[in-house]
Amino acid sequence: MADLDDLRDGSDFGLDKAVELSGYFMKGSNNNSWGFKDRMSRIFRPDTGKSVMLAFDHGFIMGPTSGVERIDLSILPLAPYADCLMASRGVIKSCIPPTFNKPICLRSDAGTSILTELNHNVTMDVQNAVALNASAMAVMLAIGDPSTEAKTVANLYKLVDQAEKFGMPVMAVTAVGKDMARDARYFGLASRICAENGASIVKTYYTEGFENVVACCPVPIVIAGGKKLAELEALELCYRAIQCGAAGVDMGRNVFQSENPVAMIQAVGGVVHDGLSPEEGFEKFNDLKNTV
Ligand code: R5P
Repeated sequence: MADLDDLRDGSDFGLDKAVELSGYFMKGSNNNSWGFKDRMSRIFRPDTGKSVMLAFDHGFIMGPTSGVERIDLSILPLAPYADCLMASRGVIKSCIPPTFNKPICLRSDAGTSILTELNHNVTMDVQNAVALNASAMAVMLAIGDPSTEAKTVANLYKLVDQAEKFGMPVMAVTAVGKDMARDARYFGLASRICAENGASIVKTYYTEGFENVVACCPVPIVIAGGKKLAELEALELCYRAIQCGAAGVDMGRNVFQSENPVAMIQAVGGVVHDGLSPEEGFEKFNDLKNTV
């Protein structure tokens, strides 16, 4: 109990000042709890409303693919420059020092590998994500895939039921089946379905007409990078997505497979947070490449 000696009555109630009832800075998040907003504010920088998330969850489907063979060697040097780390619980617990104190977007479903088709993934309990101090949970939705669509939508739906009790944002990741057209119509449909079913963040792919995908999705969208591109091309992809209203990127291969990943993640940050053009970002990449 606090010391009661010299207990002073409050007098500065600011009666001449209205309480500021400002809305929360992230799209679609205002009607959520304090804990939810605190988590979102750890992922998305409140000064820019955007995030550079570093995705290195690839091993949970692909195994030790190029760039994530040794997380300690390839990913840890990048972590200081990421706003958020996205990975599976196995990698977070075994490879990421808790002293890094970075927000975690936890890959929270499993059941698929590159050796088979998309599968009927299961999801993790929210309590386990809370125990890992996750700032968000991520699950994939296979919209349009006849055999897994219903299961993966149900996964999101049920996870959101639980996650809301803990103020835990859920990011829906749109998995694109082999037969799906990768166009704005499809990504708009998939992203909107994710949001309608309770996702607080949607991760999808950039495409022509992306401004429509963003506009019709009531929650923030971040883009995946996809296969490795030349650095300038990858920065152009980030730039175009941000110009269309994306709230950031959740990139993997275009960062950790870059010829200089530490320079690349900072160049991506320049485009996402500082309004750099792709050319300016590429200049930053080249400048840093010679120093790091
Ligand atoms: C996909 O389900 C995973 O979440 C990957 O992390 C995602 O595809 C992002 O990685 P990349 O930028 O390499 O595509």
